Amino acid sequence: TRHLLSVSDLDDDALRSVLTTAAQMHDVQHRAVKKLPTLRGRTVINLFFEDSTRTRSSFEIAGKWMSADTINITGKGSSASKGESLRDTVRTIAAMGVDAIVMRHQASGAAQQVAGWFDESGVATSVLNAGDGTHEHPTQALLDAYTLEQRLGPLAGKRIAIVGDVTHSRVFRSNVLALPRLGAHVTVVAPPTLMPSGVASWAAADGFALSDDLDEVIDSGVDALMMLRVQRERMAGGFFPTPREYTVGYGLTRDRLATLTRRNPEAVICHPGPMNRGLEIAADAADAASSLVLDQVSAGVAVRMSVLYHLLASDGIVEGSLA
Ligand code: CP
Repeated sequence: TRHLLSVSDLDDDALRSVLTTAAQMHDVQHRAVKKLPTLRGRTVINLFFEDSTRTRSSFEIAGKWMSADTINITGKGSSASKGESLRDTVRTIAAMGVDAIVMRHQASGAAQQVAGWFDESGVATSVLNAGDGTHEHPTQALLDAYTLEQRLGPLAGKRIAIVGDVTHSRVFRSNVLALPRLGAHVTVVAPPTLMPSGVASWAAADGFALSDDLDEVIDSGVDALMMLRVQRERMAGGFFPTPREYTVGYGLTRDRLATLTRRNPEAVICHPGPMNRGLEIAADAADAASSLVLDQVSAGVAVRMSVLYHLLASDGIVEGSLA
């Protein structure tokens, strides 16, 4: 593939290859001097119509450490605020000769739409989906898988629970396309009001289990809990359960942290960020020794270096490693 729109763009070899290259990039990240010449002369535009701290800055750092020229454009600071269409905006950027557009957009399917326009009109620019509405966030799932493998070893047979506002979560949608393929036993936990309709057939197809009982899942013993952010900005119709009820039923509270650790002292905690401390995750859990939140952020740079490498310096994302 020359675009990365969904985790499903990666076959099993490509998925493994991206994770292997990320480990090599992580070594670079820990050097005093982090510059690789790999993408010298290449230009990457970060085009963000939705706010971001982690994804945008890590893509920018990843590009810079690989010697690409990286430029950031936000929706508010672009001519989109004057009414320019998405199609005109991306065709304008591509016409400057950029090699890749890393795009975040509030509409599900936006990155796929842009890639389709480019493919139809023979534009060579690659599109990387940095989060599209509630659809997918593929590099988040790749960095989650990478972080979990680094701590837990191979994920085959590992029990991973993804917990929270599943309905609005592109992180969930990308992770269930990656983690089961790496052999993990994934259980997705949410209150019935925050579980998307039709998820049962989807769970059967992609190989994950469903639950609405977080205590039962924690008590059964898990290797990792991935807490999702409650996305109140996507809840125009109101939030049910109430925030208090949510925390009581589905928050990683101090008591649940104690049970998690008692059942499995090696269990780890992930959260893609930004966190709603006190809502879906207690400060004690966010800052626990078993929390991988900052490891995820660190891995985000290495994984995005890997993805940029495979898309721009290699022959697309194919099996292979850095020479
Ligand atoms: N996890 C994540 O996508 O964070 P940002 O919104 O800060 O990029």
